[in-house]
Amino acid sequence: MDNKKVNHIAIAVPNIEKAALSWEKALGMEKSEIMILKDHGVKVVFLEFANLKIELLEPLNNESPITKFLKKNPKGGIHHICFEIKNIRDTIKVLKEKKINILGDGNPKNGAHEKPVIFLHPNDLSGTLVELEET
Ligand code: CO
Repeated sequence: MDNKKVNHIAIAVPNIEKAALSWEKALGMEKSEIMILKDHGVKVVFLEFANLKIELLEPLNNESPITKFLKKNPKGGIHHICFEIKNIRDTIKVLKEKKINILGDGNPKNGAHEKPVIFLHPNDLSGTLVELEET
Protein backbone atom coordinates (compact mmCIF):
# COMPACT_ATOMS: atom_id res chain seq x y z
CA MET A 1 0.00 0.00 0.00
CA ASP A 2 1.48 3.36 -0.89
CA ASN A 3 0.60 6.02 1.63
CA LYS A 4 -0.57 9.11 -0.13
CA LYS A 5 0.68 12.62 0.58
CA VAL A 6 -1.78 15.45 0.97
CA ASN A 7 -1.00 18.02 -1.72
CA HIS A 8 -3.45 20.70 -0.60
CA ILE A 9 -6.70 21.45 1.15
CA ALA A 10 -9.02 23.76 -0.76
CA ILE A 11 -11.31 26.36 0.73
CA ALA A 12 -14.08 28.02 -1.27
CA VAL A 13 -14.32 31.77 -0.68
CA PRO A 14 -16.63 34.52 -1.95
CA ASN A 15 -13.73 37.00 -2.52
CA ILE A 16 -10.25 35.63 -3.07
CA GLU A 17 -8.35 38.92 -2.59
CA LYS A 18 -10.04 39.58 0.75
CA ALA A 19 -9.69 35.95 1.85
CA ALA A 20 -5.95 35.83 1.02
CA LEU A 21 -5.40 39.04 3.00
CA SER A 22 -7.26 37.71 6.06
CA TRP A 23 -5.20 34.52 6.04
CA GLU A 24 -1.99 36.52 5.67
CA LYS A 25 -3.00 38.85 8.49
CA ALA A 26 -3.95 36.01 10.85
CA LEU A 27 -1.24 33.45 10.10
CA GLY A 28 1.43 35.08 7.93
CA MET A 29 2.72 32.87 5.11
CA GLU A 30 3.89 33.04 1.51
CA LYS A 31 1.16 33.21 -1.07
CA SER A 32 1.16 32.62 -4.82
CA GLU A 33 -0.16 34.98 -7.46
CA ILE A 34 -3.88 34.64 -8.15
CA MET A 35 -4.42 32.31 -11.11
CA ILE A 36 -7.46 31.94 -13.34
CA LEU A 37 -8.35 28.35 -14.26
CA LYS A 38 -10.99 28.65 -16.99
CA ASP A 39 -11.39 24.86 -17.36
CA HIS A 40 -12.35 24.59 -13.70
CA GLY A 41 -14.34 27.85 -13.54
CA VAL A 42 -12.29 29.21 -10.64
CA LYS A 43 -9.74 31.77 -9.46
CA VAL A 44 -7.06 30.18 -7.28
CA VAL A 45 -4.39 31.32 -4.87
CA PHE A 46 -2.09 29.02 -2.87
CA LEU A 47 -1.07 29.75 0.71
CA GLU A 48 2.21 27.99 1.47
CA PHE A 49 2.63 26.44 4.90
CA ALA A 50 5.60 24.33 5.99
CA ASN A 51 3.88 20.97 5.42
CA LEU A 52 0.77 21.90 3.44
CA LYS A 53 -0.67 24.21 0.84
CA ILE A 54 -4.09 25.76 1.29
CA GLU A 55 -5.85 26.53 -1.98
CA LEU A 56 -8.40 29.36 -1.90
CA LEU A 57 -11.02 29.12 -4.65
CA GLU A 58 -13.38 31.79 -5.91
CA PRO A 59 -15.94 30.98 -8.63
CA LEU A 60 -15.42 32.70 -11.99
CA ASN A 61 -19.11 32.66 -12.88
CA ASN A 62 -22.49 31.19 -11.94
CA GLU A 63 -21.78 27.92 -13.75
CA SER A 64 -18.72 27.30 -11.59
CA PRO A 65 -18.98 24.21 -9.35
CA ILE A 66 -17.95 26.48 -6.45
CA THR A 67 -21.01 28.74 -6.87
CA LYS A 68 -23.41 26.09 -5.56
CA PHE A 69 -21.13 25.34 -2.61
CA LEU A 70 -20.98 29.03 -1.64
CA LYS A 71 -24.77 29.31 -1.75
CA LYS A 72 -24.84 26.73 1.04
CA ASN A 73 -21.76 28.16 2.78
CA PRO A 74 -21.87 31.92 2.11
CA LYS A 75 -18.80 32.73 4.23
CA GLY A 76 -16.78 30.00 2.55
CA GLY A 77 -15.65 26.61 3.83
CA ILE A 78 -13.50 23.56 3.21
CA HIS A 79 -14.27 22.37 -0.30
CA HIS A 80 -11.90 19.46 -1.07
CA ILE A 81 -8.73 17.63 -0.08
CA CYS A 82 -6.14 16.79 -2.73
CA PHE A 83 -3.90 13.72 -2.51
CA GLU A 84 -0.90 12.97 -4.71
CA ILE A 85 -0.87 9.90 -6.93
CA LYS A 86 1.80 8.56 -9.25
CA ASN A 87 -0.06 7.52 -12.38
CA ILE A 88 -3.49 8.94 -13.06
CA ARG A 89 -4.40 6.54 -15.91
CA ASP A 90 -3.63 3.49 -13.73
CA THR A 91 -5.50 5.05 -10.82
CA ILE A 92 -8.58 5.69 -12.97
CA LYS A 93 -8.54 2.07 -14.14
CA VAL A 94 -8.38 0.77 -10.56
CA LEU A 95 -11.11 3.18 -9.37
CA LYS A 96 -13.42 2.07 -12.19
CA GLU A 97 -12.85 -1.58 -11.27
CA LYS A 98 -13.80 -0.73 -7.69
CA LYS A 99 -16.85 1.21 -8.91
CA ILE A 100 -15.71 4.46 -7.27
CA ASN A 101 -17.37 7.41 -9.01
CA ILE A 102 -15.17 9.95 -10.77
CA LEU A 103 -16.81 13.32 -11.41
CA GLY A 104 -17.36 14.69 -14.92
CA ASP A 105 -16.58 12.48 -17.91
CA GLY A 106 -14.10 10.43 -15.87
CA ASN A 107 -11.10 11.83 -17.72
CA PRO A 108 -8.34 13.92 -16.09
CA LYS A 109 -8.20 17.70 -16.57
CA ASN A 110 -5.15 19.86 -15.94
CA GLY A 111 -5.23 21.39 -12.47
CA ALA A 112 -3.63 24.48 -10.96
CA HIS A 113 -0.13 22.98 -11.19
CA GLU A 114 -0.56 22.06 -14.89
CA LYS A 115 -0.75 18.45 -13.77
CA PRO A 116 -3.65 16.09 -14.50
CA VAL A 117 -6.31 15.81 -11.79
CA ILE A 118 -9.58 13.97 -11.20
CA PHE A 119 -12.24 14.40 -8.52
CA LEU A 120 -13.97 11.57 -6.65
CA HIS A 121 -17.64 11.78 -5.79
CA PRO A 122 -18.31 12.86 -2.17
CA ASN A 123 -20.93 10.11 -1.83
CA ASP A 124 -18.14 7.53 -1.78
CA LEU A 125 -16.01 9.41 0.76
CA SER A 126 -18.04 10.49 3.79
CA GLY A 127 -19.40 13.58 2.06
CA THR A 128 -15.89 14.83 1.24
CA LEU A 129 -14.83 15.86 -2.25
CA VAL A 130 -11.40 14.35 -2.99
CA GLU A 131 -9.05 15.51 -5.73
CA LEU A 132 -6.26 13.24 -6.96
CA GLU A 133 -3.29 14.90 -8.64
CA GLU A 134 -0.56 13.12 -10.59
CA THR A 135 2.83 14.28 -9.35
CO1 CO B 1 -7.52 21.47 -5.59
